[in-house]
Amino acid sequence: MAYRVIIPAAGQGKRMGAGKNKILLELNQLPIIIHTLRVFELDEDCEGIILAVNPQDEDEMKSLLDRHQITKVTSFVPGGKERQHSIYNALKQVRQEGIVLVHDAARPFIDKNLLRSLIEAAKTSGAAILAVPVKDTVKKATGKFVAETVERTSLWAVQTPQAFRFSILFEAYRKAEEDDFLGTDDASLVERLGKDVVIVEGSYDNIKLTTPEDLYFAEAIIRKRVEQ
Ligand code: CTP
Ligand code: MG
Repeated sequence: MAYRVIIPAAGQGKRMGAGKNKILLELNQLPIIIHTLRVFELDEDCEGIILAVNPQDEDEMKSLLDRHQITKVTSFVPGGKERQHSIYNALKQVRQEGIVLVHDAARPFIDKNLLRSLIEAAKTSGAAILAVPVKDTVKKATGKFVAETVERTSLWAVQTPQAFRFSILFEAYRKAEEDDFLGTDDASLVERLGKDVVIVEGSYDNIKLTTPEDLYFAEAIIRKRVEQ
């Protein structure tokens, strides 16, 4: 099933503390953003990539795409203040019905089979997300005191990609802007419209590289894949 993908890559990577946008850091001698883009470059169903980038990263990004033969990026859009603004800028470029995915540049370990399942689910339902069951016990707190232990069996840790019918996602973003609502993922904007969002069980390997120790986990995932 054909789709387009929006990749927000316009963060600052503050928690990584590398002094530059973390997606330009190298893993196994390849920038993180290239690992991520390659998944979509090599997926024949992917019809185009819309990349949200900071103006100061744009030249470096373009030369990386050339050097690593990434050909499917159809447009660059400027990043916004928050991830949600970067994605809205990109969505305005899509403006065509069909399945659209949103996937964080900082998540390089997407599994192709899960991508298929996610897209199938979005095709039927209009909105689908990848998520994994929460492994830790989660507690709600008031200051430093436990207020409540949250029942874990119904908790999911949400990832990207998230997949949507374009018209649903665009309306959700438009409404969020109108209401000044800032969500922490794309599906939360769709949920506000009262629409169903389907969960597709993902993989614990699909980590987001957020803090420096995530780079050790990433090296281990790459090693495991080489050995398989
Ligand atoms: N992102 C974006 N525009 C923003 C903020 C984030 O396109 N204004 C992108 C990031 O580049 C990343 C993804 O959204 O690929 C997820 O965000 P996050 O992991 O929070 O990355 P950063 O915002 O760069 O990191 P930090 O919050 O630590 O500064
Ligand atoms: Mg951030």
